[in-house]
Amino acid sequence: MEKRREVLLTGIKPTGTPHIGNYFGAIKPAIEMANSGEYDSKYFIADYHALTTVQDAKKLKQFNQEIASTWLACGLNPENTTLYRQSDVPETFELSTILHNVTPKRLMNLSHAYKAQVQANQQQGKDNDTEVNMGLYNYPILMAADIMLMNSNKVPVGQDQRQHIEIAQDIGQYFNNKFGKTLVIPQALIDEQVATIPGLDGRKMSKSYGNIIPLFGTEKELEKLLKGIKTDSSLPHEPKPLDSSVFQMYQLFATPEQIAEMTERFKSGIGWGDAKKELFATANGVLTPLRDKYNHLMANPDQVEDILQDGAKKARIVASETVDRVREAIGVAPKKLFKVGFDATTKTDKEAGKC
Ligand code: ADP
Ligand code: TRP
Repeated sequence: MEKRREVLLTGIKPTGTPHIGNYFGAIKPAIEMANSGEYDSKYFIADYHALTTVQDAKKLKQFNQEIASTWLACGLNPENTTLYRQSDVPETFELSTILHNVTPKRLMNLSHAYKAQVQANQQQGKDNDTEVNMGLYNYPILMAADIMLMNSNKVPVGQDQRQHIEIAQDIGQYFNNKFGKTLVIPQALIDEQVATIPGLDGRKMSKSYGNIIPLFGTEKELEKLLKGIKTDSSLPHEPKPLDSSVFQMYQLFATPEQIAEMTERFKSGIGWGDAKKELFATANGVLTPLRDKYNHLMANPDQVEDILQDGAKKARIVASETVDRVREAIGVAPKKLFKVGFDATTKTDKEAGKC
């Protein structure tokens, strides 16, 4: 019998236009992992998580579309990865409500994102609760629900999300201790090797610093932004530093042979203008096919919608099984007793071998 693969799950928050730092730091490695075939992978767009800050219908819709198209354009294969939108899986919110009741308030008080807002308020002499909505305060519970709903074993995330996974583990343990072993306790998968990609000003590329290079801007925009990367004042024939943002950025896009050659040119004093020209040509060569695919998907939102709907259908099969198990554990009648609507549909799909 084939060995059951571990479930790999991650959520992507649609809060802005994806940039080159997101691509090399998160998207590319996550897609490689999903495409390795080692895991049963499930990637979702965490749109209800974005709602803590994105409270503008037009923007949320746009970001959702951009994020889904980005992941597909970058090589996420819906044949081997379930791609869905969190808001299409209502079981998430049922599980979240249940988990609220085993989560000590103390745990939420310790959450970094909440604490950071309180600290910022204090520094500005404001009331502790300014800008703190309950979505932000309870954010870790919703995230725990996302994760445990899908029986996730491994959750690939960046360093900044480590605490959220630890909170999910705690919540899962509290639930299992009280109601018997029901939920799968997840583990974080954090790649310490992932480099921090510098932005235009040399600081970490981040939308909060306004120093980003959008992944799918136009060719002209890419050229202009790359030309604007901050450099030192060394003269045209002087050696150029290999720890400069220009070289670091070049390394991301170039082949090992190209990197070796460029290393020599940096040592022997390539001018910054020429170095940036090479950087643009190489980056544009890598990004053009992805950009074309992205633009095609953005122009055909129905194609993306079909993929997301299909993903939600598959996700809800697992989700409804988990919620049934949880309802049974806490003493609420499992939904499967009411054979209506969705359950009936999914059974048919299952029987038809579609999922
Ligand atoms: P931003 O800092 O622009 O708000 P996010 O916090 O939304 O970006 O990050 C989404 C994902 O992209 C995270 O997994 C994060 O670790 C990764 N990421 C963001 N910026 C960078 C960067 N400059 N270098 C490497 N990875 C990054
Ligand atoms: N909180 C994550 C972030 O800000 C996004 C996220 C929501 C997530 N739910 C998740 C990540 C579940 C992993 C698993 O990036």
